Amino acid sequence: METPSPTPPQDNSAGPAAAEQRRGFLAQAISLVLGTVTLLVPAVVGIVSFLNPLRQHGQAGRFMRLTSLDVLPEDGTPRKFPVIADRTDAWNRFPNEPIGAVFLRRVKPDKVEALQVVCPHAGCSIQYEATDDGGKFFCPCHSASFDLSGKRLDETSPSPRDLDTLDVKVESDGEVLVKFQSFETGTAKKVVKA
Ligand code: FES
Repeated sequence: METPSPTPPQDNSAGPAAAEQRRGFLAQAISLVLGTVTLLVPAVVGIVSFLNPLRQHGQAGRFMRLTSLDVLPEDGTPRKFPVIADRTDAWNRFPNEPIGAVFLRRVKPDKVEALQVVCPHAGCSIQYEATDDGGKFFCPCHSASFDLSGKRLDETSPSPRDLDTLDVKVESDGEVLVKFQSFETGTAKKVVKA
């Protein structure tokens, strides 16, 4: 016949006070973990967004040499120019990449206006169309149309604002420099993209 094994002795030293102490320690540990996570999440999101290559546009926002005055027609017909620049991100440098395009138009012998080609409605590329009365810009996506200075031609235009103008400098040697920037689409206000 098998003898039953003895029940291990109970540790009576862990009374209600010890249990209370353990609960307090556990609560402190949980609140420490939650506090750390709360602090880390915004920091990680900030670092990831800072390092995101798509947000880095290198030379965008600086004046860039695009052409010379004598290339632009004297009658004010717009010409489209690609914007080529070095693009860098947190890890790499990409030399001579297309980062956008602009329409340039000579409005006086030594004065040039520049428009972003991106439609403010949803970001399609606007196009120039010659007409009997001098021409206009139009967007092939939802038919927004604009006059040559970029003003909307239609009161019910899908575009929430006029075309985006860019700053231009004409240097004494006739070189045309444009401050290239991109803007948010779908907003009535012109907001520079981060
Ligand atoms: S994207 Fe130009 S009208 Fe919609």
